Formats: sequence, structure tokens, C-alpha cells
Amino acid sequence: MTLVNELATPPIRLRDYHQPAWSVDTVELEVELDIDCTEVSSRLVLRGAATTPSTPLRLDGEGLELLAISLDGKALGSDAYRYDKGVLEVDGVHDGSVLQTRVRIRPAANTALEGLYLSGSRDSGFLLTQCEAEGFRHITFFPDRPDVLARYTVTLRADRARFPVLLAGGNPDGQGGLADGRHWARFVDPHPRPSYLFALVAGRLEHIQREYITADGRPVKLVIWSEANVIDCCHYALDALERAMRWDERTYGRQYDLDVFHVVATHDFNMGAMENKGLNIFNAKYLLADPDSSTDEEYRAVEAVVAHEYFHNWTGNRVTCRDWFQLSLKEGLTVFREQQFSAEMNSPPLKRIEDVSLLRRTQFPEDAGPLAHPVRPAEYREINNFYTATVYEKGSELVRMLAGRLGQHGFRHGMDLYFERHDGQAATIEHFLAALGDANDIDLTPYLAWYAQPGTPRLHAKGQYDPARREYTLTLSQQMRPASSQPDKMPLPIPVKLSLFDQHGRMLPLHGEDFGGGIPQTESVIVLDKAAQHFIFRHVDAPPVPSLLRGFSAPVVLECDYTPAELALLLTHDADGFNRWEAGQQLAMLAFDSLQGTHDAKACDAWCDALAALFQHSTVDDALLADLLTPPGEIEFADRQLEVDPAKIHVRRQALQHRLATHIGAQALLERYRTLAADTSHRLDAGSQAGRRLKRRVLELLALLDADQAHDLAARQFENAKGMTDRLAALGVLVRDRAWQAADALVSFRERYADNPLALDKWFTVQAQVPGEAALAIVQQLEGDPAFTLKNPNRARALFGAFASANPSGFHRIDGAGYRLFAERLIQLDALNPQIAARLATAFNGWQRLEPVRREAARLALGALAQRQELSRNLGEIIGNVLQ
Ligand code: ARG
Ligand code: ZN
Repeated sequence: MTLVNELATPPIRLRDYHQPAWSVDTVELEVELDIDCTEVSSRLVLRGAATTPSTPLRLDGEGLELLAISLDGKALGSDAYRYDKGVLEVDGVHDGSVLQTRVRIRPAANTALEGLYLSGSRDSGFLLTQCEAEGFRHITFFPDRPDVLARYTVTLRADRARFPVLLAGGNPDGQGGLADGRHWARFVDPHPRPSYLFALVAGRLEHIQREYITADGRPVKLVIWSEANVIDCCHYALDALERAMRWDERTYGRQYDLDVFHVVATHDFNMGAMENKGLNIFNAKYLLADPDSSTDEEYRAVEAVVAHEYFHNWTGNRVTCRDWFQLSLKEGLTVFREQQFSAEMNSPPLKRIEDVSLLRRTQFPEDAGPLAHPVRPAEYREINNFYTATVYEKGSELVRMLAGRLGQHGFRHGMDLYFERHDGQAATIEHFLAALGDANDIDLTPYLAWYAQPGTPRLHAKGQYDPARREYTLTLSQQMRPASSQPDKMPLPIPVKLSLFDQHGRMLPLHGEDFGGGIPQTESVIVLDKAAQHFIFRHVDAPPVPSLLRGFSAPVVLECDYTPAELALLLTHDADGFNRWEAGQQLAMLAFDSLQGTHDAKACDAWCDALAALFQHSTVDDALLADLLTPPGEIEFADRQLEVDPAKIHVRRQALQHRLATHIGAQALLERYRTLAADTSHRLDAGSQAGRRLKRRVLELLALLDADQAHDLAARQFENAKGMTDRLAALGVLVRDRAWQAADALVSFRERYADNPLALDKWFTVQAQVPGEAALAIVQQLEGDPAFTLKNPNRARALFGAFASANPSGFHRIDGAGYRLFAERLIQLDALNPQIAARLATAFNGWQRLEPVRREAARLALGALAQRQELSRNLGEIIGNVLQ
């Protein structure tokens, strides 16, 4: 199978990095905004002291209609420049030269949502930009790479009635009226920045604002902008922003550095949000929140993403990336900072459970399949394909390991030194590790191997107890499955946080040379940095149960031959909330295997007994209990199988949950549901959220035992719900179970939220997730719904993303019809928006590990896709890699 486009372009390689021949001191942009036809004039002051004047200036530019070009005040004849295949070459440039260009671009025709585009309708929508990674070249000619940092002055001009609000990054620097009902506004950014952080917004927008005083006493105006009908849903985000700003001052000593901070919500956005300097732009999904249309999870996501983008101001903007291979330098680090923040604002163990679940659901499968790549990739064809779970989530885990190694103060010192050394620069991952290491006199270079090797390491643990010597020996070893591209993998430093428990569930003091002197602790971190190592614990009176990798101290798969009884002990007693949950997950895995009949049925009983006991008597927090009562998802179960049959996995996981529900008992479930449902207040505090989370879980379990009763309760909960969390939970049960009450509930939901795109997305998603063969017909019917469109990324994801990536038993039909429909839609989507098409296409990632019939069906669908001549570079790269 050959991919025509795929083979045509060689990849871009990290090892080929060269400093830019020419850089840019200052940029002055003047933008005449119009929906169909915008003109951009640019004035660049160029620097190239070390560059010989005979080296042509090379600027990126995609789809620009060049109207005028001059160098040092003289119009250039067509022999002095060449514009071809996305590159403008100009001769005769010297250090200090001024290049001026004027180009025409067409925002309304831009369906890829990269560069300048229109959000919403022609009549009422607004104009905005998305430049990361390489969108700026769709706006004007520029060396569009992150290591060219320049000072920007941006002047916007537009019709005042159609575009009353004009915004760009930086500080405001004047505004005024022009003839013919037009007006202008200017913005100056004192901080040099890369082109990917450029942004502008123009249109009819409302705002809310507040003044923020930095720790140094400087006032900053915080403003959130949205379309008028949703401006009331922005208050939660504004509060979250203020919390994030305070937290960064307190935790990292980082203050905001402009006079204004603007945030804008759009319904048309490829990603979650974007940290443009002084002008963050958000997918509305991660900015708007109100009880009637947002779930508790969505509230937390808004807080997290608002914080994430804000934190980028230091980790990303003030210190940016030298090249796109270093993407995790800003993303992994910023995800880590956001995780720390969210843990502090909410509950640390719950946040950890949420993040590790996400890692296992998205990053582990990515790392185990044909799309696997290192946290710092060595090559790419299309950088937008590398905004992945590996770069973000695994990248964050790597920073977490470093932070754990240095301790709270050591990490802070290291971060201080990183900012001190690299403020205003474009840095690399080596710079980051060097700063952290130098500040603590520790050589962190062994951790570089984590950034270079793809794949999830396996950590094998085996304990042996010697009663005569009262010693417990823990042998740890690590294995990497060699990938074809990197045959010899290095041992990695793997920090293992651990405790030992006695048979009564009490933690033991740790004695031995690996655990330091002084008063023995009950928790310690040991670092495995060889292929295998023994660790000896002394003064141990009886065989202990080790609690390993506490808090998920390294992103590995732990293999340890626990007995069901040992896992049940940890599930009942471990004081580390994360590891308690983890023991339950491991036990559920064994229980799942036991349903296959190949393993000991004891595991299932142990899991059910331990959870039933916790359900009845324990004082565990409701939210943690809800998580404990949830076995790993279908994708996680699939990840452990050599030949995946998604239909079987679904059935077996349901059976496992049925066992659990039976153990707890319908009566106990019903009683708990009633108790929880008695609280009809709708508050956002942790306790209320936890109650709703448990209520949902209890209802789901009850539905497995007594469907009629549960559907009755669900229908009532749906009708009386005070907020989206309860409403959607009830709808989910009805729709997934195909209960007779589902149809009415769907109609009423649909009517209630006819004008609310984010809520309507959930209506599509919940139906796309009906398990099993029924899903395909539902998806086909939903495609015909007047509210469905492939043009809106959130809507396309709500239907096709949910179907292909979050409904394994529905998508992986044995007849391959799911694959064929999906492949056809990918082609249509690719013509509109290659980034979204490529992202959705990663749903095919695990196809090689499917059982033979499905594998062949997937191969055929993918093969047909690969034959298409018109694939974008984005989709072409994903299909090419998936087929490898
Ligand atoms: N830097 C953004 C973030 O906060 C992501 C933007 C990615 N955009 C893209 N088209 N690849 O994570
Ligand atoms: Zn980010």
C-alpha cells in the first residue's frame, strides 16, 4: 500500500535543526478586516548580523495573495523575489533591512480554522485567529518558527457597526474613528514573542471584567468576551482565572506581565484553547459554564483549561520552545502545573485518579500502537499531528517524576533558575533539565532517555520474605518492548514510591540502607535505574504486602503477582487514595480474567466482597467510593489483550459489574440512591459533586440488577434534575439501556437545548455511545439531523469522535460497516478541516491487535483511504503511520 502524498514529502527531523539565518526585530502589522477579503500589511525589521547578504531571506506564506512588496523602501521587481510552494524568497536583504508586504486573505472561506477565520454566521459571527503551530503563515509572510522572537505592534481597522470590538495581543495603545463608519485600535506587546502567539479578534462581543492586583501591586484588567447570549456563563471562568493567577504567584512566584488579559470564547475551534499572549482564545466548551447546561466534570475542565492557558504565560510564552520537537517543554510542563493547581483546588487523590485514567485511556494505547512516538519526537511531517496524549499527558508525568525527585523546594529552585536563565528565549528540553539539575546539584541527564524512547515501560516487581533473617527483598526489573525504530532501549530511572503493609493493613516502618537514616518512615521512594535491582527491608516480622508506585510515581505498567487477597487488603486499607483505587483496578482486572474461566474465580469474589464492605460501612468519601465502584474501561481492558474482540470485552465488563451489583444487593443500592437523591439542592461544593457522582454510579449498578426500577428512577431524575450533571446521568442510563423512556427524554432534552450548541453536543454524544451493533444505525440517523454538521469541530467530535473513539463495541462491528462509514466521513471532513480529520482518524490506532475478522475489515477500510489522492498532509501522515 502506498500513500501518494505521504512519500512525496520527506519528514522534518530534530537532528537537522539549524538556527534561523534571518531573524526579526520588530513587526508592524496593519489589518483591514473584512469577512470575505482582509488585507494585511506588514513591516519587518530584519536581523542577520552573522548572515552573508547573499543568503536569501526565506519567509513562510501559505495561500497569500501578494499585492505589494518592497525592501528598504523600494518596490521589488519580480526578479528580486520568488513565491512558490509556501515560501517567499527575497534577495538583497542585509542586517537592519526593512521588508514590507501587503497581502489579501479570505477569512470566510477558511474552513480549516487555522490562520484568520470566521466563527459563526456571516451576519452575526466574528473574526478570530488560531496560529499555533503554523497558522501565522496563513496571515502574512514571516519566518513562522518558534525561535524567531519579535516585538509586535498591531493596528486593526474595520467597519465599526459590523466589528465594534477590536482586540489583539499585548497592551492597548490607542483607538479612534475613521471616515466611512470605520474605526481602528492599536496594540503593542513589549515582550518579544514567536509568531504562533499572535492573535486578533474582531466582531460583536459582550464582556465581563474585573480588576486584578498582582502580588507586586500592579493593576491588571481581566476581561472575558463572548457572544451576547452566553456572557452570563463566563463568571465561573473569570473566578477560575483569578484563582490561577494567585496560585501561580504563590506557588511559583510568577506574576502577570501586561496591563490587560483578554479571554475570548468561540464555538468554532480545533483544539481546547490557545494561550496567545494577552489574548487567550477558548473553545466555548472550556470557558462557558452554568448549572443548567454544564456537568460537574465540565466545571472542573473549565477551571483546568483556564489555568492551563494562563500558566502558559510563563511556561510557553516568556520561555518558549526552540522548535516544535520541544513541544512538551511547554505542554508537559504546563499540564503538570495545571494538575498541581487542580489537585489543590479540588481533591488530590481524585485528580490523580482522573489523570491516570486519562493517561491509560489515551496515552497507553497510543504508545502501544503504530502511532507511538517519544515525548520528544525525532521527526514529523505535520506538526499538528503531534499535539498528542504522549506530548501532553506523558510529558506531564515526566515533569512529575523530576519534581518528585527534587522535592517541593528543590523543584521550585530549579524552576526559578529555568526562568532566570531562559526568560525571553526559545529553549530546549536539555535546558530545562540542566536548570532543574544545576539548581539542585543533581545530574538529571539520565531522565533524557524518557523523552527519547517511545513505549510504556513494564516494571516487574517480585517480593521474597526470609523469616529467619526477618528480611523482605523486593526485586524490581524493567523491560521495554523494543520498537523497530529503536532496537536497544536504555534502562530508565524509575522512581517507585512505596510502603509495606502488614496483614492487618497497618503500614510498617521501613528499615534498610535504601531508606535513609533517622526515624524510619512508612513511605519511601526508591529509584530503579538499572535493568534489575534488589531492595532489602529489615526487621520485618511477617510477609508484608507492598503498596508500590504510590500516587502513580512513574508512567509504567506495574506487573506484580499479587494474590486477590493482597489486592483486597490494599483496596480496603491503603491510606494513599490513589493506590487504594489502583488496587481495586488491578483486582478488577484479575476478576475480569476470571470470568474468562482461565483464572482463579477468587479474584471476582475478592473484588466484590471488598467493595460491598466499603459500600456498607466505610467512611470513604462519596466521590472516591464512586471511582472505586467503577472497573477499568473497555479500552483499558483491551490494552491488555493480544487479540481484541470489543464486543466480548463489553459483555464481560457488564457481567463483572453485574456481579458487583449483585454482591451489594438491589436493596442496598436502592436505599443509597434514595438517600443521595434526597439532597435536591444543586450546589457546586465538593460534597455535593461527590454525592452526584456516587448517585450516578449507584443508579448505573442498579440498572444492571433491576432495570425497570432503575429506569423509573432515571426518568424521574431526568425530569426533576436541577442541573446538567443529574440530567445527563439519567439520560445516559436511559439511552444506553435503550429503555422505553429514552425517546421522550431525548425529545425533551433536544427542545430544551435547541439554542445551546454545547448541550446539544452532549445529546449527540450520549446516543453515539449506545453499545453494540445498534450504534451504527443511530449514528447514521443522527447525521441526517438538521443540527448536525461536519463543519463545526465540536459537533463532528460529539458524533464521530464519540462513536469511533469512545464506543468500542459500537464502532468495531464485525461486518466492518462502522469502519466504512467512518472512513467516508474522514474524507469529507479532510476536505474541510484536515486537523480534525487527522485527529479523529487516530481512532484506527489499535486495529492491528483486533481479532482477525475485524482486523481484516479495518485493513480494507484503511487501505481504501490510503489510496485516495486528495488526502491532506495531516490525514495522510496518520493513515500512513497507522498502516505501518
Ligand atoms: N497550545 C495550545 C494548548 O494550550 C494548543 C494549541 C494547539 N493547536 C493546534 N492547532 N495544534 O495546549
Ligand atoms: Zn497547552
